[in-house]
Amino acid sequence: MNKTVAVIEGDDAAPEAMRPVVALLDSLQLGLSWVRPQVGETAEAATGSTFPDAARALIDAADTTLFGSTSGKSGAALGYLRWGKETYANVRPCRYLRGCASPLARPDGIDFVIVRENLEDLYVGAEGPLEDLAPLGLVGRSVRRPIHELGSGRYAIKAITREGTERVVRFAFRLAAARTGRDGAGEPKVTCATKHNMLRDTDGLFLQVAREVAEDHPDIAFESFIVDDFACRMIREPERFDVVVMPNQYGDILSDAAGGLLGSLGLAASGCFGEDYAYFEPAHGTAPDIAGRNIINPTATILSATMMLDYLGLDEAARRIEAGLARVYDDGTALTPDQGGSSSTTEFMHALARVL
Ligand code: IPM
Ligand code: MG
Repeated sequence: MNKTVAVIEGDDAAPEAMRPVVALLDSLQLGLSWVRPQVGETAEAATGSTFPDAARALIDAADTTLFGSTSGKSGAALGYLRWGKETYANVRPCRYLRGCASPLARPDGIDFVIVRENLEDLYVGAEGPLEDLAPLGLVGRSVRRPIHELGSGRYAIKAITREGTERVVRFAFRLAAARTGRDGAGEPKVTCATKHNMLRDTDGLFLQVAREVAEDHPDIAFESFIVDDFACRMIREPERFDVVVMPNQYGDILSDAAGGLLGSLGLAASGCFGEDYAYFEPAHGTAPDIAGRNIINPTATILSATMMLDYLGLDEAARRIEAGLARVYDDGTALTPDQGGSSSTTEFMHALARVL
C-alpha cells in the first residue's frame, strides 16, 4: 500500500519533534511517501506568499497531512487545513501512560478523548469595533445595559449552528462506539460540556442538538455538564470520562488542561477530521522557549502520527508504536525534561527505536 503524506514541520521547536518522527516512520517501511509543501516564512521568501497555490495542491493531492505546531506565518496553511478542508471534529485523546509525570496522585485509568468542534463558536473570525453594532439596537438579557451604551470597545461573534453541532456530536457518538473495542474499555459514554446557563441561545442550541443526537444512540450513555463544573470534574475524576464533546473554545482550553493532567503539553496529540480529509498535529504550540535545544518532547507528535496511521488503515503499526512508547515511559530512563528526565529528543527517539 502506498500512501502520500504532506508533512509541514512547523515553527520554532516543532521541527525538532517532527523530523525524527518522520524518520522513525520511514524506518518502519510502512509504504508512506512524503511530500513537503512549502509554507510560512520559507514560502514567503521564495514566492511572496505564506501559503502558495503549490502548497495547497500538495495538501489536496496527499492522503493526509502531518503538521507541526505553528506560530504566525504557517497560520494560513493551518486555516486551510481546518476551514478549507472542513475538518470539523478535532479529536484530542487524554490517556495516561505509566511513567509520565502526571501531577495527580492516582492518574491510572485516565483514558478519555475531547472532541472539539473545530470550525465555529468564537473562532469564526468575526471581530470588530463595538460601535459597529450600535445600529442593531441589541439589548442584553435582564438588567444588562444595551450594547450601544457600553461605550467604545471590541466584540467577537460566537456562532453555533445546528448543522455544525450535529455533525460533531454524531462524530463523538461514532467514536464512543468505536472505542468499546479497545483494551480496558468500559461502557461507552458521551459527555457534553457547554455554558448553556449563560449562553442560552448558542451553547443552549449545542446542548439541545447533543440531546437529540443522543436519543438516536440508546446504547451509549449520555450526560451533560456546565463547562466550568466539567473542568473541575475533569481534574477530580478524569477516569470517569470517555468521549467529551464541546464547542470550539472550551475544547481548545480544556484540551491543554487535559495535557496538564497527564504531565505536560508534550503529551497532547490531535487529529482533525472532516468528511473527506483529515490531518494530524500535536495540540501544543511551537515552544519557542526551547527552540534549538533538542529537548522538545516528541510524544505529542508521535501520538498524532499514530492517529494518522489509524486513519490510513495502518492500525497494526499504530498499536506497535503505542506499545513501544508505553515501554519507554514505563522504563523511564530516556524521558525529556518536561517529564522529569534529562534526555534529549534524539535520545528519547533512539530509546523508542530500540524497543520497536
Ligand atoms: C490549537 C491551537 C490553535 C487553536 C492555534 C494555534 C490557532 O491552540 O490547536 O489548540 O487555537 O486552535
Ligand atoms: Mg490550543
